[in-house]
Amino acid sequence: MANHILTLCLLVITCSAALAFEPSPLQDFCVADATSSAKVNGLVCKDSKMVEAKDFFFSGLHLLGNTSNFLGSKITPVNVAQVPGLNTLGVSIVRIDFAPMGLNPPHYHPRASEILTVLEGTLFVGFVTSNPENRLISKVLQKGDVFVFPMGLVHFQRNVGHRNAIVMAGFGSQNPGAVGIANAVFGSNPAIPNEVLTTAFQVDKNLIDSLQTKF
Ligand SMILES: *[C@@H]1O[C@H](CO)[C@@H](O)[C@H](O)[C@H]1NC(C)=O
Repeated sequence: MANHILTLCLLVITCSAALAFEPSPLQDFCVADATSSAKVNGLVCKDSKMVEAKDFFFSGLHLLGNTSNFLGSKITPVNVAQVPGLNTLGVSIVRIDFAPMGLNPPHYHPRASEILTVLEGTLFVGFVTSNPENRLISKVLQKGDVFVFPMGLVHFQRNVGHRNAIVMAGFGSQNPGAVGIANAVFGSNPAIPNEVLTTAFQVDKNLIDSLQTKF
């Protein structure tokens, strides 16, 4: 019986280690050393004796983001680029501000699931499941509501209230990354050839040209 429990425990540990998207830390922390030019998966650790509170600190998520842009939204990220102490820890956070009708356009995070909570306002949010179903799973969120966007799925948020909206969102990565669908498809550099896009979207070259000028 004890043996079975031990085997089960080992199995669970092995599986969770194999399934974890970012590797588990091998030490208390590995504060990113911005001066190192070594290339590793993540960032090189600085000498732990040199680590200070400021390596784990960020101030400013109480500040209103400037939403004066065509989307009417502003993302304030707090990931390993802002907080070097997040290196190897597999978490990060953002604040997003939305003007009325403001949009965080369809995008996905290649390295993280996202858990979002509404601090102020009313948002229509959703994500789309992968091929072949491509089902839109969406909901209107109010203050205090929480919604989850699974890793790698295309999702968006739009302010459908009459006032500004504020959300905070956590990620299961120190560096979740973001791929904007419109930016990737119509704004790549160099551009994806016209024949690819006209066939893929079943529209004519003029429409593709027009979309490419916008991104
Ligand atoms: C907000 O951004 C706009 C556009 O970049 C800029 O013109 C404006 O000065 C900014 N407002 C503030 C308060 O920073």
